Amino acid sequence: MKAVRVGLLGCGTVGGGVVKLMRRNAAMLAARLGARLELAAVADRSLKPDPSLGLYAELITRDAQALVTRPDIDVVVELFGGLEPAQSLILKALAAGKDVVTANKALLAERGDVIFKAAVKSGRFIGFEASVGGGIPIIRTLREALAADRQRAVYGIVNGTCNYILSTMAENGSEFADVLAAAQRSGLAEADPTLDVGGHDAAHKLALLVTLAFGVALRPSQVHTEGITRITLQDIAYAREFGFTVKLLAIAKHEDGAIEARVHPTMVPSRHLLASVNGAYNAIYIQGEALGSTMYFGLGAGEMPTATAVVADILEIARMRLAGATEASDHALGYPYSAIKPAKVKPMDRIACEYYLRFMAEDKPGVLGRIASVLGRHKISIASMIQQERAPQVPVVMRTHESQERDLRRALAEIHRRKIVKTEPVFIRIEERL
Ligand SMILES: NC(=O)c1ccc[n+]([C@@H]2O[C@H](COP(=O)([O-])OP(=O)(O)OC[C@H]3O[C@@H](n4cnc5c(N)ncnc54)[C@H](OP(=O)(O)O)[C@@H]3O)[C@@H](O)[C@H]2O)c1
Repeated sequence: MKAVRVGLLGCGTVGGGVVKLMRRNAAMLAARLGARLELAAVADRSLKPDPSLGLYAELITRDAQALVTRPDIDVVVELFGGLEPAQSLILKALAAGKDVVTANKALLAERGDVIFKAAVKSGRFIGFEASVGGGIPIIRTLREALAADRQRAVYGIVNGTCNYILSTMAENGSEFADVLAAAQRSGLAEADPTLDVGGHDAAHKLALLVTLAFGVALRPSQVHTEGITRITLQDIAYAREFGFTVKLLAIAKHEDGAIEARVHPTMVPSRHLLASVNGAYNAIYIQGEALGSTMYFGLGAGEMPTATAVVADILEIARMRLAGATEASDHALGYPYSAIKPAKVKPMDRIACEYYLRFMAEDKPGVLGRIASVLGRHKISIASMIQQERAPQVPVVMRTHESQERDLRRALAEIHRRKIVKTEPVFIRIEERL
């Protein structure tokens, strides 16, 4: 039986899962492929041999640079993470005629232009299914299963840490800082959680989804990005009263040739499927012109879920290698690389949606009237309102009709500047028509 040989860079959480899955399912994978998938080498700076997993001392190396050019290796699987040395190693592997699999969304989102171009030049393939949605097969779905349709919009819950924090806050009534600390203790959040709770990880993933869905290139810096650190229990409770659930959504819409791309806390109707995606689960909800809406749901991270996506990529590449495909690389993003042009991005000022607003106002006659008058002057109309208990400081909470972001920001700045309210007004965007 022929063999396709795999060199692994990084044997941490995901790499460890890949080793286990390739070993556990070796017979089935060989049956599917008609050839053996063999682990030829693992480069990792801290890995110790573990014969129970087939990780014998002779498979382990500290020399990643040498691994990626070894003539007996066909596919290089990059699971180091980070930008360097991951990028240089991938480029070196491609130049040496290896196909590459990676789960590194940060690298692909930031340096995809260099990497995909190099893959095309070398005629090799880049598999990156695990980079968005972990085990959810969303890359292949957009690239192949939905390829006949024109996509209108993508809404993703693509960061499990944020989703876990927001759903635990809502469920247990605990504040953000307490839930984050507990998530860090249990390993659900990183020691430095900035990339996750700041929304940047979701922005990396959205940049990749935009290319697959709309065929244009988008840099993460072009995604309007807000994290979840300012979300309070009070806002989650008011959202519930209005019939909404707060989620960190990665949103991309394609309209009139321009792309709207944003990551921010969003109120979604509590009856919507996305509102029921809780804990560390991910979901991607796609609106297509011909198909209508579909949703893809599952675990977006973790050892074995992510490993399933990596090994499926290895299998796909192994099939292409065995079939002798040499120009396969040019469909990794669903379009020939040369056809992917920079996205025309709609400025945030020009987006329109409904808004949730919360003001902390003194309980004095006229305050509400002054707020409403500034909003009205800026063409913001109020759809409904909650004003509760009497106290020196009372929350005034509103839901607006659809408004322009530019008008809303001007109105809130004026309310703040004229000291009509005591603290900076809070606003959260609502996606009512999902
Ligand atoms: N974890 C998930 O659930 C998940 C989900 C989707 C995508 N991903 C992506 O998958 C990739 C890997 O994530 P992971 O969670 O598996 O990371 P991880 O647990 O930190 O594993 C990385 C492994 O590679 C080693 N390593 C890193 N840089 C190295 C270098 N320069 N030389 C030698 N060894 C090096 C690390 O060694 P040390 O431990 O000594 O640093 C570690 O053993 C990342 O790009 C991540 O974004 C992860």
